[in-house]
Amino acid sequence: MSKKKIMCVFGTRPEAIKICPLILEMKKRSSLDVIVCVTAQHRQMLDQVLQTFGVIPDYDLNIMQNRQTLFDITAAVLNGIKDVLEEVRPNVVLVHGDTSTTFVTALACFYLRIPVGHVEAGLRTYNIFSPYPEEFNREAVSIICRYNFAPTSLARDNLLREGRNPANIYVTGNTVIDAMRHTVRSDYTHPVLDWVGDNKLIFITAHRRENLGEPLHRMFRAIRRVLEEHPDCRAVYPIHMNPAVREVAEAEFRGCDHIRIIEPIDVIDCHNFEARSFLCLTDSGGIQEECPSYGVPVLVMRDTTERPEGVEAGTLRLVGTDEEMIYHHFSMLLEDKTEYDRMSHACNPYGDGHACERIADILEGKVYSPWELPKGWC
Ligand code: UD1
Ligand code: UDP
Repeated sequence: MSKKKIMCVFGTRPEAIKICPLILEMKKRSSLDVIVCVTAQHRQMLDQVLQTFGVIPDYDLNIMQNRQTLFDITAAVLNGIKDVLEEVRPNVVLVHGDTSTTFVTALACFYLRIPVGHVEAGLRTYNIFSPYPEEFNREAVSIICRYNFAPTSLARDNLLREGRNPANIYVTGNTVIDAMRHTVRSDYTHPVLDWVGDNKLIFITAHRRENLGEPLHRMFRAIRRVLEEHPDCRAVYPIHMNPAVREVAEAEFRGCDHIRIIEPIDVIDCHNFEARSFLCLTDSGGIQEECPSYGVPVLVMRDTTERPEGVEAGTLRLVGTDEEMIYHHFSMLLEDKTEYDRMSHACNPYGDGHACERIADILEGKVYSPWELPKGWC
């Protein structure tokens, strides 16, 4: 019997972190032939993840440009992926999440009538400008795809409400939880953690396109004010490689002794830093899923979130990008123990660490009864 050709296409760091564990799982299955194509929408940050997981791409479109626009990414992926899809003719193409690589690859598959499987399907804010352009990207992929791998039942419900075929929706959990089972170690050490010592570790990341410019200035000004008022805090900020982020961080944090801005760290370092943090401030999507597992409260510096499960569970708080709001909530969590304790309980509404096995089972066509996160998971 011929093997089923499953081609995984991805391009950025978070896609890679969440799809590499699935690639490794599918490679164990004798009925699946796994082909990996990276667009390299990110270059260094993608390669860092590929190296960590030991995944070697079969195809590499190498599209990244410095300060690339959405037009640059869209045109380069659409033109580059066509030849690969025509050469390989996969039975299914897997894409992940909501990046431009994800949307454009799904579009190319639609043009060539190749079935698409969407990992992390059904996340929504229903505001196509927030996050931008991700909300549009993921909504558009849902119109196209054959397999919707929803991480939670809430994500599934979004898809059902939108009229998607229930037979094509599977609740699997989020594959990032699978990755986390292998990354966090109790004996982990790092020189930056030595610098933090017994102080409170504040973990910071920021990169969203809609936050570039003035919102980033406001976020960083608020963070700096709080750090300067709390000498028992040390902030660690592994900065995104986007020069538009670096310029603002350099301007706002220059001369601040309480923060270390470091190069992007690999995912093992990142999860171990998160696990040891007192608090995280971020506009990242993935970090909103990871920190709740460690009982680390997250202040989400965005106006919307597609991950309401964590807000409902109490570990995420949406604080927007207003300087005073961020200052207020950040200070409060440092000064009000009751408030802090309310947010800091370990809970993970996003999965049980077996999402990759479920997705591989479904792709193999094994008998499959829809799986649900048990009630009262947290
Ligand atoms: C992209 C995704 C976003 C995701 C984020 C994860 C889109 C439109 N955006 O946004 O959904 O949350 O990745 O980080 O798909 N750069 C490097 N080296 C790298 C990576 C980036 O130099 O390894 C620089 C380049 O100058 C590049 C810029 O960062 O032009 C922006 O990268 P891009 O992929 O366009 O946007 P992100 O903000 O990373
Ligand atoms: N991450 C990492 N190194 C870093 C910063 C983040 O490995 O220096 C990981 C983090 O653990 C999470 C993912 O990258 O799994 C989040 O990526 P990002 O914030 O860039 O994108 P988003 O999730 O917002 O799309």
